[in-house]
Amino acid sequence: MPDVFRLVYVDLATASLEKAEDYYTDVLGASIVAKTGRETYLSLGLDHHNVSLCAEPNPGLNAIGLQLCRDVPLADLAKRLKDSGVANHLRTDSRPGVPALLEIPDVGGHTIHLFAAIDQPAPGFSASGIVPLRLGHVALLAQRADELLSFLTNMLKFRKTDWIGDPVTFLTCNRDHHVLNVVQAPVTGLHHIAFELRGLEHHVQAMDRLAAEKRPILWGPSRHHAGHNLATYHHGPDNLLIEFYSEMDVFIPDLDSFEPRPWHDDLPQRPKHWRIEQMTAWETQYEFDFLTVSWGVRVPSTTNAAL
Ligand SMILES: [Fe+2]
Repeated sequence: MPDVFRLVYVDLATASLEKAEDYYTDVLGASIVAKTGRETYLSLGLDHHNVSLCAEPNPGLNAIGLQLCRDVPLADLAKRLKDSGVANHLRTDSRPGVPALLEIPDVGGHTIHLFAAIDQPAPGFSASGIVPLRLGHVALLAQRADELLSFLTNMLKFRKTDWIGDPVTFLTCNRDHHVLNVVQAPVTGLHHIAFELRGLEHHVQAMDRLAAEKRPILWGPSRHHAGHNLATYHHGPDNLLIEFYSEMDVFIPDLDSFEPRPWHDDLPQRPKHWRIEQMTAWETQYEFDFLTVSWGVRVPSTTNAAL
């Protein structure tokens, strides 16, 4: 069993806190739960935050937050990681709503937060805006992808659920087809973040709202092969790529396959290697270069020798 069971938040640096707040509240429909100087914490409905914004000159991904399973005490995990040579720091009250977290400061160039609990003030789902169900997954670009994949699978016990070509690996810690997507890339950064919608009609409503906001759809709507989710992409604040998706494959770990669907290529549909040209089942054009998109690129740091 994986040590974590869900992605809770992304911590984003933004060059314009005000514009980013406007997008996540007015367009997306998130609620501001806390503000601390140059930081803003936004909830989609239940958790204290699912997106946190920090005003910084250079946009980028500061961290992702993963919640630990009940039977994985934070202190035990900290010791296990330390014994394995993985640098980590126990932080208390370092961010609102999260009493204690374990920070893994550099795994494949990315920072991961692990925590047992996050406050759930439940501001509720907004009455306006697109109002997604949840933050579903994050796609990470990594020059040191092998290091990141090793950490996720060996230390946190993520399962690999699909591949696209050589560079793209999908991983899950629950029944979603993917919670993380790791891309071996020439740069380290963030490819996209993804919010789950209720279904096709919700995609239509979301696209109409984005059109009203003069935010063009960059790709889609389409159905991916890997994960078979319906997906549309647009640029959010700071030109961050944001995906809306629904109907993602449901993973059955004990069968190492996905719940069957009429649009599956194989029955049973198992984790497999898809070709890079199989990005979409609907042949809708994929306009942006998957390998060289460079949002939030960070300067590579030293390799974590343990991974
Ligand atoms: Fe995605």
